[in-house]
Amino acid sequence: MEMTRVAVIGAGVIGLSTAVCISESIPQCSIDVISDKFTPNTTSDVAAGMLIPHAYPDTPVYLQKQWFQETFDRLFGITNSSEAIDAGIHLVSGWQIYRSIPPQERPFWADIVLGFRRMTESELKKFPQHVFGQTFTTMKCEGLSYLQWLEKRLRKSGGHIHIRKVEDLWELYGSYDIVVNCSGLGSRELVGDLELFPVRGQVLKVQAPWVKHFIRDGDGLTYIYPGAFNVTLGGTRQKDDWNLSPDPQNSREILNRCWALEPSLQGAWDIKEKVGLRPSRPGVRLQKEILTQNGHQLPVVHNYGHGAGGFSVHWGTALQAVQLIKELITTLRISTFKAKL
Ligand SMILES: Cc1cc2nc3c(=O)[nH]c(=O)nc-3n(C[C@H](O)[C@H](O)[C@H](O)COP(=O)(O)OP(=O)(O)OC[C@H]3O[C@@H](n4cnc5c(N)ncnc54)[C@H](O)[C@@H]3O)c2cc1C
Ligand SMILES: *[C@@H]1O[C@H](CO)[C@@H](O)[C@H](O)[C@H]1NC(C)=O
Ligand SMILES: *[C@@H]1O[C@H](CO)[C@@H](O)[C@H](O)[C@H]1NC(C)=O
Ligand SMILES: *[C@@H]1O[C@H](CO)[C@@H](O)[C@H](O)[C@H]1NC(C)=O
Ligand SMILES: *[C@@H]1O[C@H](CO)[C@@H](O)[C@H](O)[C@H]1NC(C)=O
Repeated sequence: MEMTRVAVIGAGVIGLSTAVCISESIPQCSIDVISDKFTPNTTSDVAAGMLIPHAYPDTPVYLQKQWFQETFDRLFGITNSSEAIDAGIHLVSGWQIYRSIPPQERPFWADIVLGFRRMTESELKKFPQHVFGQTFTTMKCEGLSYLQWLEKRLRKSGGHIHIRKVEDLWELYGSYDIVVNCSGLGSRELVGDLELFPVRGQVLKVQAPWVKHFIRDGDGLTYIYPGAFNVTLGGTRQKDDWNLSPDPQNSREILNRCWALEPSLQGAWDIKEKVGLRPSRPGVRLQKEILTQNGHQLPVVHNYGHGAGGFSVHWGTALQAVQLIKELITTLRISTFKAKL
């Protein structure tokens, strides 16, 4: 059987997981990941990597639920194997707390995370400013470890990695049969997608090894996420702000908000500031498209715009991208077959 040459643009969690998913599901593909930035320099490296979904208003809820379920199942399998430490994935339990009763007491993902329940009065005693809370067990992905692990898996299965900025998708015409666009915020320029906008997020990574339980304020602004090596303290959500430099005022506010929830963090040390731009969009763009120019055709699969929740749904969206690639391969086979007749 002939090999289908696939280029995946982007080496964040979306590009790398899509590339690995293709290599696992479609053996007759050769895969090149092409990206201008790699770990540790992507948005995915800044993320806390918690598996807690963020709602995409323009994506149907049943799809978001399916993506989260598929991602959760996949990573739960990895945490249950000897690969867990290399992949940088671990289970973590904690609290999501609210200052007023939220409109939805049971979010759509309540049955997917483990042991979801309402917090009791005794648990809420820790948070006098909050009146309601949920407790559950989920997973956290260490961006650095997970991206390296995905790269390693891709190389093992014969995939290649190239450092390069793609200015125009047509540069890849002739060298590849299918291009997969996982360029995150880069798609604003690359595909001219003006629905895409940055939501700036600043976090602190600190040493506080006694903190084992996550705490997330339901407003999404303040969070404490213990990881394998550091605790991530957040955060900010600044729409249309492209500034990648840490802002000391933001850091002071983050510390004050986190100290209010977990006073022992005043003893944290080795505080490092990190900034990332969430590639946000009203809905994730998961679509196939055949670009045409001067009578040439370039099949493209788009998989970008995961905003504040890319880690939470990445494996589900990779599986759907693979489905679209399979459909394109079938179309390509039929057209080559017809051309030969
Ligand atoms: C502070 C913060 C905390 C977060 N916490 C969480 C969390 O707890 N849980 C969660 O699920 N999500 C979280 N997120 C969101 C998550 O980080 C994103 O959804 C996810 O990283 C998006 O992945 P991506 O691969 O699409 O983008 P990126 O990681 O930005 O990767 C895009 C890739 O495309 C490449 N690229 C772009 N344009 C081009 C081009 N023209 N040519 C070549 N290459 C190109 C880039 O170099 C890069 O490698 C957080 C984000 C931030 C900022
Ligand atoms: C990450 O960025 C730094 C600073 O720009 C650079 O020196 C380093 O080579 C980059 N790493 C990778 C893997 O691209
Ligand atoms: C966890 O691992 C055990 C032993 O390998 C296996 O029997 C079980 O099915 C695994 N569970 C999950 C969820 O992967
Ligand atoms: C992704 O696709 C869009 C258009 O569909 C294009 O403008 C953009 O340049 C593409 N991104 C990359 C990195 O090829
Ligand atoms: C997190 O902790 C590890 C181990 O202590 C350290 O090597 C790494 O640089 C830290 N990461 C950040 C972003 O501070």
